[in-house]
Amino acid sequence: MTKFSLPFSRRPSNVVVLTGAGISQESGIRTFRASDGLWEDHRIEDVATPEGFARDPALVHQFYNARREQLLADTTHPNSAHDALAALESLVGGELLVVTQNVDDLHERAGQKSLVHMHGELLKIRCEVTGQVYPAPLTLTERDTCDCCGLRETLRPDIVWFGEMPMEMDRIYQALAGCELFISIGTSGNVYPAAGFCREAKLNGAVTLELNLEPSSGSTDFDYTYYGPAGTLVPEFVDYFQALPQ
Ligand code: APR
Repeated sequence: MTKFSLPFSRRPSNVVVLTGAGISQESGIRTFRASDGLWEDHRIEDVATPEGFARDPALVHQFYNARREQLLADTTHPNSAHDALAALESLVGGELLVVTQNVDDLHERAGQKSLVHMHGELLKIRCEVTGQVYPAPLTLTERDTCDCCGLRETLRPDIVWFGEMPMEMDRIYQALAGCELFISIGTSGNVYPAAGFCREAKLNGAVTLELNLEPSSGSTDFDYTYYGPAGTLVPEFVDYFQALPQ
């Protein structure tokens, strides 16, 4: 017997899924706002703002180099939540768009095709002068020069920092406007614009669902909420979805 009691008599055909750090927690990647989270050890303004990068690029590179190294370690793999979401893609008749705030590549590794990295990607770097994007080396330093302009101090992680515009917002809002179901997985709901996606989807008539370890800051915005580890909840939800008539 499924725990999911949602108002669908058939599979919704357009679905948007927002993911946050919680979906990668069971892969061994630290979240941001837990008691052992990344923001306990680092000041946001030092390592995740354009001003911090201008002040101390070496510190910022050190922060992202360490995260990149962990992501590429042999022990880091997608977990059952990433796998289940990738499987959901073939069960959705219209479009399933996964919008992730995560900068890891675990959704891709699980086989997710329709995916937007709204906060950028750890495995990419960008020239600040030309906007040219490159694959990231394992270690990036402030002394590295880019191929496009050959200048110093122009390469930065291709990450959206606080105060910067998230990526692909037009595509995201278009998908939110047309979805029948919006699901938020593993995010604390503290960072906008992602924290506003539930309301946006609801305005357009979508059913909204939160799957998280605990109630997020925006939990009361959701029509349905289920709490537990994503590695268990997401596969259970995909089983429920698969059992719905097409
Ligand atoms: N399964 C499901 N949810 C989990 C799990 C798990 N195994 N572990 C933790 N969570 C939940 C936490 O309860 C919390 O609500 O995931 C959420 C993680 O919240 P944050 O650490 O705030 O991460 P996120 O919401 O993704 O942060 C948003 O903030 O710092 C910026 O740019 C960064 O993209 C990030 C953004």
